[in-house]
Amino acid sequence: MLKVSSMRLSCLSVAVLAMTAAVAAQAGEVEVLHYWTSGGEAKSVAELKKIMQAKGHVWKDFAVAGGGGDNAATLLKSRVVSGNPPSAGQIKGPAIQEWASEGVLANLDAVGKAEKWDSLLPKVVADVMKYKGNFVAVPVNVHRVNWIWANPDVLKKAGVAGMPKNYDEFFAAADKIKKAGFIAVAHGGQNWQDFTTFESVALGVGGVKFYHDAMVTLDPKAISSDTMTKALETFRKIKGYTDPAAPGRDWNLATSMVMKGEAAFQFMGDWAKGEFMAAGKVPGKDFLCAAAPGTANAFTFNVDSFAMFKLKSPDAQKAQGDLAAAIMGTEFQEVFNLNKGSIPVRLNMKLDKFDDCAKLSSKDFVDTAKSGGLQPSIAHGMAVKPAAEGAIKDVVSQFWNDDKITVADAQKRLVAAAATK
Ligand code: BGC
Repeated sequence: MLKVSSMRLSCLSVAVLAMTAAVAAQAGEVEVLHYWTSGGEAKSVAELKKIMQAKGHVWKDFAVAGGGGDNAATLLKSRVVSGNPPSAGQIKGPAIQEWASEGVLANLDAVGKAEKWDSLLPKVVADVMKYKGNFVAVPVNVHRVNWIWANPDVLKKAGVAGMPKNYDEFFAAADKIKKAGFIAVAHGGQNWQDFTTFESVALGVGGVKFYHDAMVTLDPKAISSDTMTKALETFRKIKGYTDPAAPGRDWNLATSMVMKGEAAFQFMGDWAKGEFMAAGKVPGKDFLCAAAPGTANAFTFNVDSFAMFKLKSPDAQKAQGDLAAAIMGTEFQEVFNLNKGSIPVRLNMKLDKFDDCAKLSSKDFVDTAKSGGLQPSIAHGMAVKPAAEGAIKDVVSQFWNDDKITVADAQKRLVAAAATK
């Protein structure tokens, strides 16, 4: 008996070994560096892993915790500098150009041409993915940053009728919420979250032209203007509605405070929706989304993308090409974005499985592209080079955290930070 089963077992192992070898002959490894580690984010990236594994490739996960991606960027640098880059890294906006100019990115034109990316992407996005006319990165989604999220039960209990459309309405609502014993604003005190809120406030207080001049072209006149004074004052006022435990808190924990009914609002991009959805919450019923106060006619975009690094092994190169093609494929664009809270970046996708927040986002993306309201997010690496972004982010966060820094002083520091090369 024992003999038979061990014979069977060894036949089986031979068969399994043979099969594994057959797969291994075509399989390549893709090592993917990303910072999607929260509940909704992890579910989203797992979809890409599934697609790659179904193609027979080996997925090597290189996840680096830390919202906004600063930790991931640091680790990526050290890997590339030591001559051992991953296949793909989550890099976006002007940082793609910086990496490409170092000569370390792969040319993806073969797959980009075969898959007709130029006709499947908005031109403004395709341009960011290219260096000297060649594709070096591939986009996964369009996130909108200028959102405010809310718990409808808390609003109801506090006697707040609806989502605030401007800052007068916002502060009136926040006072009622505070009085009713809730935290008005769930905030995670990390510099990129302070910056995310600031960006939406600057847009809401100053409007599209001001945002563009101050945060995209970094015009010192706009940064020193009275409008910026008002934006900083409004930003500081919001801090009074956050709780004392905010410093250091991760963004998804702040989202969960809204979910649980401890807090009313959160200023955050629509990756927050990914968290609500991962927890089984229903948009419109368990949580509300609206453009941040004063920003209904604008859209700060944040396009996540993967830049691909030059690799030596032909198998790994093949796997890398398959990864790039999969990312732009309709299957991935749908399932990833349903989980992530964003909308597909690929044009002409059906949105019937998407909720009303995503549909509003998609409509506003198209409308604002025509009106000029479509603006790159500075807090999420889309508007300016990483050095200036980092310097401005530091000033904004220092101002938020230290009440002794006056608004006038912050404006001076911002002008200096904006000049960082
Ligand atoms: C990224 C999102 C991510 C968020 C929080 C943003 O900069 O674009 O994909 O979910 O940071 O980590």
